[in-house]
Amino acid sequence: AGGALWGGRFESGPAAAMAALSLSTHFDWRLAPHDIAGSRAHARVLHRAGLLSDDELTAMLAGLDRLAEDVRTGAFTPAPADEDVHTALERGLIERVGPELGGKLRAGRSRNDQVATLFRMWLREAARRVAAGVLDVVDALVAQVERHPDAVMPGRTHLQHAQPVLLAHHLLAHCQALLRDVERLRDWDARAAFSPYGSGALAGSSLGLDPAAVAADLGFAAPVENSIDGTAARDFAAEIAFCLAMLGVDLSRIAEEVIIWTTAEFGYAVLDDAWATGSSIMPQKKNPDVAELARGKSGRLVGNLTGLMATLKAQPLAYNRDLQEDKEPLFDSVEQLDLLLPAMAGMLGTLRFDTDRMAELAPAGFTLATDIAEWLVRQGVPFRVAHEAAGACVRAAEARGVGLDELTDEELTRCCPHLTPEVRSVLTVKGSIASRNAHGGTAPERVAEQRARLVERVRDH
Ligand code: ARG
Repeated sequence: AGGALWGGRFESGPAAAMAALSLSTHFDWRLAPHDIAGSRAHARVLHRAGLLSDDELTAMLAGLDRLAEDVRTGAFTPAPADEDVHTALERGLIERVGPELGGKLRAGRSRNDQVATLFRMWLREAARRVAAGVLDVVDALVAQVERHPDAVMPGRTHLQHAQPVLLAHHLLAHCQALLRDVERLRDWDARAAFSPYGSGALAGSSLGLDPAAVAADLGFAAPVENSIDGTAARDFAAEIAFCLAMLGVDLSRIAEEVIIWTTAEFGYAVLDDAWATGSSIMPQKKNPDVAELARGKSGRLVGNLTGLMATLKAQPLAYNRDLQEDKEPLFDSVEQLDLLLPAMAGMLGTLRFDTDRMAELAPAGFTLATDIAEWLVRQGVPFRVAHEAAGACVRAAEARGVGLDELTDEELTRCCPHLTPEVRSVLTVKGSIASRNAHGGTAPERVAEQRARLVERVRDH
């Protein structure tokens, strides 16, 4: 059957529609450098097992070097008859070192253990690249934190004004989530760092080849413990698909806020021209497309995770061809993040905050009501009573269309006899923020410490 790797027992080649269905080179070609690295390692263990002479090993490695170079320059590409990247590269090797030597490399390995290994290699590199891209986004946010150490804003729950907070505290909350995404990728790597090479089709290799040597050669911590698991397991793919989807979701939450913050109604921030787009008809428009694409792509990343889980569900051990469907969703998730992360870093790093506007809105919506209640608690009033009293203050202020700090002394005592004019000390945004000074709170000195610790963690990566 042409250049296929399995023609022996077949009388005819595959039907055209069969071949078309089977073909994967249009997406698995990106594994070519890893396939060649795997072949180099495999050639070395064949040599060590006495299955390749010294001269054969030298010629094989030289052929693989030439093939790698031709793949790199594009001089060698898969042909339509090459079923997958492994088939194409075997043809390429045979074209370079001849059929006799080229035909020896396949001993003791199967595409099943090959592809599981190469996919892990590709994903481990991708994870490191994505993590670096996330750290750039964190850096952009930290630069904003450092630019605005004391800017205030209305903190929200249910999107309603809740309590005033520092802008720096809010931005660092996103940094915390993003840093966990980075750490999650690193934790994933500790589980993914096992090489299936040597598992063969499913049962392991009989030729005295050393899987540990191949694993070390390819940068893995160790070979897998079980050849069936090595060829059948794809939880490493599902797990990183989750890590990437979670990252997408975290990015989309930042993106959604940027979209809201840059509306006329909020007016918290203005996008830099380089990171916004215009409208073909409305001359005044400045659109937050980066943020919208982040929000949109997060759905796609979730879809890639969901699709992969559905592919894996109920597959019996060991390898099934269904598993060929594992790669495209992950390639896509990584590709989208490769595009998105630098754009998010650029957009967030250049966002211009209108801190006056945010300060003006910080006390709006009675965000200091909790401060009244907590002041009363410090005077010995039970919180249930204090909560009622602060609520009465809000009602009174709302009825008169004023802020809590504008209530008269009589109005305050009418709400609660314990509400003396001293309560005014906490009726400022600054006082409220400064009072939340326990670990993790929004008080300026706590936020400065938080920033310092976060920067330390970033430096550790
Ligand atoms: N291209 C396949 C994949 O991506 C590997 C080949 C295994 N094919 C096979 N018939 N055993 O999973």
